Amino acid sequence: MKESKLMSVSAIQNGTVIDHIPASSLFKVIQILRLDRIENQITFGTNLESDKLGRKAIIKISGVFFEDEDINRIALVAPDAKLNIIKDYEVVEKKVVEVPDNIIGIAKCMNPKCITNFENVITRFRVVSKKNVALKCHYCEKITTQENMSII
Ligand code: CTP
Ligand code: ZN
Repeated sequence: MKESKLMSVSAIQNGTVIDHIPASSLFKVIQILRLDRIENQITFGTNLESDKLGRKAIIKISGVFFEDEDINRIALVAPDAKLNIIKDYEVVEKKVVEVPDNIIGIAKCMNPKCITNFENVITRFRVVSKKNVALKCHYCEKITTQENMSII
């Protein structure tokens, strides 16, 4: 850790720092990772200056190390997120998120006639494009793109 740099949110001893979250996606990331249900110490900052994103958010979760499968669920709302694994105050690993092959829950199907929109059925999609995310619904086969995607 560089001593000279000012940190907007205090350093943590052990855990995960998720950086480069678009500010507008902060609460979606909290929801997707179910951070409201864990008892660990969590700090976050939002509307921080970022050259790349305009306004970014950062989340620091003490004592939690996520499985790749779980963390990749945030790729739909924070495709440029960077993970820093912290042990004994040092960054021991950096990871980027990857859009998974299948998405269960998280997104709504854009087809108003889809069963998932009028019955209590969890959405399921196959990711048919990872760059400009496009999801094919398991139930109605319609494509939901990033532009018309809403998060549950
Ligand atoms: N961090 C932290 N606690 C620590 C060490 C680092 O919260 N004990 C945070 C830093 O605030 C930063 C992130 O982890 O947001 C990555 O740390 P570092 O690699 O030192 O910063 P940068 O070089 O700015 O990383 P990058 O450019 O990859 O974002
Ligand atoms: Zn559907």
